Amino acid sequence: MSDSPIIGNSPRVTIVGAGRVGSTLAQRIAEKNLADVVLLDIVAGMPQGLALDLLEARGIESHNRQINGTNNYADTANSNIVVITAGFPRKPGMSRDDLLKVNAQIVVNAAKNAIAHSPNAIFIVVTNPLDVMTYLTWQTTGLPRNRVMGMAGVLDSARFETFVALELGVLPADVKAMVLGSHGDLMVPLSRYATVNGIPITELLSQKTIDDLVARTRNGGAEIVELMQTGGAFFAPASATSIMVQSILLNESRLLPMATYLQGEYGLNDVVIGVPCLLGNEGIKKIVEVNINDQERAALQTSAESVRGNITRALEILQET
Ligand code: NAI
Ligand code: 2OP
Repeated sequence: MSDSPIIGNSPRVTIVGAGRVGSTLAQRIAEKNLADVVLLDIVAGMPQGLALDLLEARGIESHNRQINGTNNYADTANSNIVVITAGFPRKPGMSRDDLLKVNAQIVVNAAKNAIAHSPNAIFIVVTNPLDVMTYLTWQTTGLPRNRVMGMAGVLDSARFETFVALELGVLPADVKAMVLGSHGDLMVPLSRYATVNGIPITELLSQKTIDDLVARTRNGGAEIVELMQTGGAFFAPASATSIMVQSILLNESRLLPMATYLQGEYGLNDVVIGVPCLLGNEGIKKIVEVNINDQERAALQTSAESVRGNITRALEILQET
């Protein structure tokens, strides 16, 4: 860990996993002047080097946030927020079970160590498979469900908004959309509710075009992997996570889609899936149940059943090891 002291009473965000998403998130948080950041990774020296590099940009970027790199959870003590990005994407030859196995162990280990040093933290999970990893973090930390959430819906919604904006040639910030469900092929974009400054996109685009944009959104992560060949998306995922961090630290109460443990909401029980939530300084202040039609409800149900199967498999894998 670098030896410069933590300054004043600044909030502290720990990011477990200083890879592409983690390090970009550290940059976003510091440069938005939201909090001090602790970057933790298992690779010796790597988070320390990244932290020093980010520190050296502070004068240029005009902020005074502390950024520390470490391999030791003791250095993450008393964090307000812990973000878990540690883990691996699927590699060639790897089955879904292999990925579940390797990431489940990493995430359970990260959650266990992080909560031991930051019992009052709010946890945001990013590692894939997202909904399953969020469930494991909730279970491992033993925290109330409002303090553990997964980031995916903000990213998937941002992708949908981007594709709508590109199609219509409008300012991306004027497009508002919400994507619910699991993070993957079975996500549920609520296109009926998507608008350009309040005008439903169903008034502006044909159903065929909307269906094509929904399909591209579902494939959003894979499209980038296919192009890059060397890993997955990280700029937009880091931006998406940073607005969740901001909504918590500044108590903004933004209504955002995020993965959370459901207890009857949307007719779903004992499963983690993406739904709209009000996010503020106590974590999830409220799960918001909007009207969805039969088709959307059925899609959410299918999405939830798929996550439930993977949660069961992850718990079996963890017991076997
Ligand atoms: P990356 O490979 O660049 O970074 C992962 C980091 O985790 C590496 O630095 C690695 O050393 C570290 N790590 C591995 N085991 C660890 C452990 N036990 N403790 C601490 N650190 C450990 O991967 P990237 O691109 O940053 O992605 C990270 C994860 O986030 C992946 O699972 C990816 O699929 C997921 N992801 C999820 C998104 C979402 O929307 N929820 C969007 C983008 C990525
Ligand atoms: C993404 O959607 C792979 O979850 C990652 O980009």
